[in-house]
Amino acid sequence: MLRLGVLGSGSGSNMQAILDAIREGRLNAEIVLVLSDNPEAFILQRAKDAGLPTALIDCRGYAQKFPVEAQLETATALRDAGAELVCLAGFMRLVKQPLLDAFPGHILNIHPSLLPAYPGLHAWEQAVDDGATESGCTVHLVDAGMDTGPIISQARVPILPGDTAATLHARIQIEEHRLYPEAILKVAKK
Ligand code: GAR
Repeated sequence: MLRLGVLGSGSGSNMQAILDAIREGRLNAEIVLVLSDNPEAFILQRAKDAGLPTALIDCRGYAQKFPVEAQLETATALRDAGAELVCLAGFMRLVKQPLLDAFPGHILNIHPSLLPAYPGLHAWEQAVDDGATESGCTVHLVDAGMDTGPIISQARVPILPGDTAATLHARIQIEEHRLYPEAILKVAKK
């Protein structure tokens, strides 16, 4: 059984989708730790409600966005929990060394666009503002870049006339919730 660590900063709907896939027998895995950099993040509440171990990554008081000290603490917490694969699920800090070195080739991210299009924040809004007719979501292995790294899986989502950033993001999220567990399974099989 694959042991997963999940990092998120927000609502945690992708973490929930991974958990649902595990509970429904679609993914032979276990979430061993849920970490967040945001004490108010709903992902922590969802995890607690599901009886999963949680921890806070404390980045306060540092000048850097994801300080080396906090990355080392994160790596230690994930290792101590026995995580084999780390899933970024709406984690809004850029992962770099030393966390990357602690799990080489074993950190996944989900991003709400068809990468390499629209990396960075609010990708759904970028797509609507750009007048694009299609967007989607991507699961990829994390490297030191911003939303770069080898692509594992993608799903396409049409952008419909009258779509707003919010309606497009909602449609993308439906696909994300299907895609992430499938991509984890794909990685596990390798
Ligand atoms: C998701 O749409 C995810 O793709 C995006 O944040 C949202 C988190 O939702 N991630 C990024 O934009 C990363 N660059 P969730 O907290 O409900 O899973």
